[in-house]
Amino acid sequence: MYSGGNASSLPLVGGKAEPTIKQLSKPGRRASRFPKLDVPEVEISNSALTSIKPTLPEVSEHDLVMHYSRLAHRNFAVDLGFYPLGSCTMKYNPRFADFVASLPTFANSHPSTPSKFTQGNLSILFELEHYLTEITGMDCATFQPPAGASGELTGLLIIKKYLQENNLQHKNQIIVPDSAHGTNPASAKMAGFEVVEVSTDLRGMVNIEDLKDKVNENTAGLMLTNPNTGGLFEENIVQISKVIHDEGGLVYYDGANLNAIVGVCRPGDMGFDIVHSNLHKTFATPHGGGGPGSGPVAVKNFLREYLPGPIVIKKDDIYEWYEPASSIGRMHGYHGNFLVALRALVYMKLLGKEGLDELGSYAVLNARYLSSIVSKVIPLAYDEPCMHEFVASVKNLKKSHKIKAYDVGKALLDRGFHSPTIYFPLIVEEALMFEPTETQTVDTLDDLAATLEIIIQELQETESSFEEYPKNLPVGRPNELIPAKHLTVNWGDFELLEITE
Ligand SMILES: Cc1ncc(COP(=O)(O)O)c(C=O)c1O
Repeated sequence: MYSGGNASSLPLVGGKAEPTIKQLSKPGRRASRFPKLDVPEVEISNSALTSIKPTLPEVSEHDLVMHYSRLAHRNFAVDLGFYPLGSCTMKYNPRFADFVASLPTFANSHPSTPSKFTQGNLSILFELEHYLTEITGMDCATFQPPAGASGELTGLLIIKKYLQENNLQHKNQIIVPDSAHGTNPASAKMAGFEVVEVSTDLRGMVNIEDLKDKVNENTAGLMLTNPNTGGLFEENIVQISKVIHDEGGLVYYDGANLNAIVGVCRPGDMGFDIVHSNLHKTFATPHGGGGPGSGPVAVKNFLREYLPGPIVIKKDDIYEWYEPASSIGRMHGYHGNFLVALRALVYMKLLGKEGLDELGSYAVLNARYLSSIVSKVIPLAYDEPCMHEFVASVKNLKKSHKIKAYDVGKALLDRGFHSPTIYFPLIVEEALMFEPTETQTVDTLDDLAATLEIIIQELQETESSFEEYPKNLPVGRPNELIPAKHLTVNWGDFELLEITE
């Protein structure tokens, strides 16, 4: 088994624990020097000056490189090991897309440059918009939102403006399934809507009868991801869209799970009016802590003029920026995260139509294979064929052996695998959500299932305490609540507190 991401083998520095960059600092050391001034010196006004010197670390270039390289190797990464984080689509990102995005012609182009000098860049967004709308079955798109959650807010503000312009302000409720990602109700609330929850039936799908009960003249719309967060395809999706449309509401597609259906079916054909895609999941940029993302929002033609601008149009073979007439306004500076969009286009061209058509099918095949072998060790939450991800539950193991989803995740990390998503969706007790993606080989999937079996067996046979895991990583079980509640990221103020349950 490959044990990527295991930091225990890293040498300590001089036999001691890794120093911080501040501890490495020695007065006078430099990683770089400013070039000699080759323009006339200008006095800076006193009001712009401060008498407090910044306390920046002073280190040599090599110390700097070694320090951050050592830290980087302690991180788990898509390039180091299997990262089956459900709902996050942590798949391998082809180097070629990164190579193109790092070409100086793209990386150094400034967004304020007049469009007549950046026709190539505009053509990239224009072409990507065409591919994305083709894949999702929509008509036009904006690249402003920098993430899925921002795409959700964009979509909901579009719904709001559309309703206002059509004198339908009384429509103030957004229906969200109880299985939804937390960003869905949060975005609806941020956009000023009331959130109405619809339940999930025993098979893991939207409860149609409950939906019909919840829909009324105040329904502004529904947010849904399909496949849903249980990894199941909402087989009643056409009926669901119709229930909302019949009451004059709009249907929003949370594109977090688009990877499952690329090349197979399209949200636009299922009745969705607005779709966000997470380019940073489905199309070549890592999701999560991996840097900026992109959550372009695509709509049907009747919503085009509400999109945040600028969007690219083509007139007489010239590309131009266009501000939609009733735009909700900007969601991001300039044109969104252009280099993430560029990677997505390169990825699509690299795979071609044939590759894109196979993408979703292979993602589903891998998930079905993995679910069939994992289910021998941990029961699945739903007895339905999964799409690109599936949810297992250790609720029985918790009862019999006090073993929690959290413990399994930590034990996997110790053995070189990233944890699956845990405790999501909220409606599944002790949930472990696995998403293998299409980029894993069958050997890696077998390795993961075999490792899970070892972990569970070890616990049952030896009754060893799972709370000891991870044993070999630089960080064990930090308190995840404190940093979220008290955001203090300055060195000196931050304490790594162990969990005290
Ligand atoms: C189902 C679902 N919806 C929305 C989001 C939010 O996407 P983002 O993290 O790009 O804001 C996620 C993120 O993983 C998700 O899984």
